[in-house]
Amino acid sequence: TSNQMWGGRFAAGPDAIMEAINASIGFDKRLAAQDIAGSRAHAAMLGATGIVEASDVEAIRKGLLTVLSEIESGDFAFSAALEDIHMNVEARLKEVIGAPAGRLHTGRSRNDQVATDFRLWVRDQLDAAETGLLALMRALVGQAESGADWVMPGFTHLQTAQPVTWGHHMMAYVEMFARDLSRVRDARARMNESPLGAAALAGTSFPVDRQMTAEALGFDRPMANSLDAVSDRDFALEFLGCASICAMHLSRFAEELVIWSSAQFRFVTLSDRFSTGSSIMPQKKNPDAAELIRAKVGRIFGANVALMMVMKGLPLAYSKDMQEDKEQVFDAADNLMLALAAMEGMVRDMTANRPALEAAAASGFSTATDLADWLVRVLDLPFREAHHVTGSLVALAEKQGCDLPDLTLEQMQGVHNGITGDVFDVLGVHNSVASRTSYGGTSPERVREQVARWKENLG
Ligand code: ARG
Repeated sequence: TSNQMWGGRFAAGPDAIMEAINASIGFDKRLAAQDIAGSRAHAAMLGATGIVEASDVEAIRKGLLTVLSEIESGDFAFSAALEDIHMNVEARLKEVIGAPAGRLHTGRSRNDQVATDFRLWVRDQLDAAETGLLALMRALVGQAESGADWVMPGFTHLQTAQPVTWGHHMMAYVEMFARDLSRVRDARARMNESPLGAAALAGTSFPVDRQMTAEALGFDRPMANSLDAVSDRDFALEFLGCASICAMHLSRFAEELVIWSSAQFRFVTLSDRFSTGSSIMPQKKNPDAAELIRAKVGRIFGANVALMMVMKGLPLAYSKDMQEDKEQVFDAADNLMLALAAMEGMVRDMTANRPALEAAAASGFSTATDLADWLVRVLDLPFREAHHVTGSLVALAEKQGCDLPDLTLEQMQGVHNGITGDVFDVLGVHNSVASRTSYGGTSPERVREQVARWKENLG
């Protein structure tokens, strides 16, 4: 039998394969609540403007509530023959209220309808990402506060570079996630315009009040161009862009947790609640959550690229290609929220191993730069010469199989006879970090200022 929505023009129904490739109900049923919210706003507006009689609008309103409760309670029979969530809801509304259901679609198209539903859904995800980011940032600030003056090695090229503080390292991630948060907020502000009332692509001859529906749905204003309104998916791409950068940050941190929790580093102990065991090796405690967070990035980047590819060749306005937007965004959103929550849990629960951090901080000639700076400050050597002298001292220590503070004063003076005993002060890691008081530097003093600033920001 031909489709009840457009059967007028069709003699035959679709081939089974046509139905299979065309139907989106399997995934877009996730837009049910948004679809019904959009329809309620549209119906109320049809009543307020006199486009549809009040009694019909009232029947539609009640009927939509019934359909919503059926969907929420799980006793709604979704049908692939009805293609998508929009037609599933409308068909059921017809069964529930009869003839007035046929007036709901006045001055509207599935094109502005789906654009509206999907915007509402993505807007909720931006809000959820904001909540998840804030929780993670609070957990990081908590770690930074308890270890503001704990010393650990700072790395470049994953080679020991200079000592930093644990608090400083945690607060670096707070800055990164704060940028993600600001991107999410920007995206939300930009996307919060209503496509509803753009109809199929050209607008409508009915005297619709787009301002009214925009307001009812929490949008700041109606979109200004009907062609753009139905063909734009920037909001979904911006969400995926925000999600991709955030996931990249999560992945970098996850990578550090994997390294840090290894027996070779032992910088952190992850809690049992956020670790897994091995079915064969009894000693194992694996950082699976961190590894999975690291892997989630792949699918989130994938979604971003996939939707860019879907959109890049589409002429205005709507093409069915755009139905492929949802699964990518659904999957990316689900996995981003999961990754944020798992990271928050891991960070909240993890224990930094202070002795291991400090022992590692002192190895690998981590205070060589402090030594070179001392030669400049105290002996007035040009920095390049100080760099060279320090390099010779590192080579000497390496030959002796010891670290810089283990060299004797005599050995040092053999390399440069101006060196005096107080050089040893700057070779200690605590003095090293304490000296880095420049704005944004790693000294505990500066770190505590940042912790205080963020605690106030985060409430
Ligand atoms: N299921 C469709 C989608 O997700 C709804 C819009 C269909 N519009 C159309 N003209 N066929 O994009």
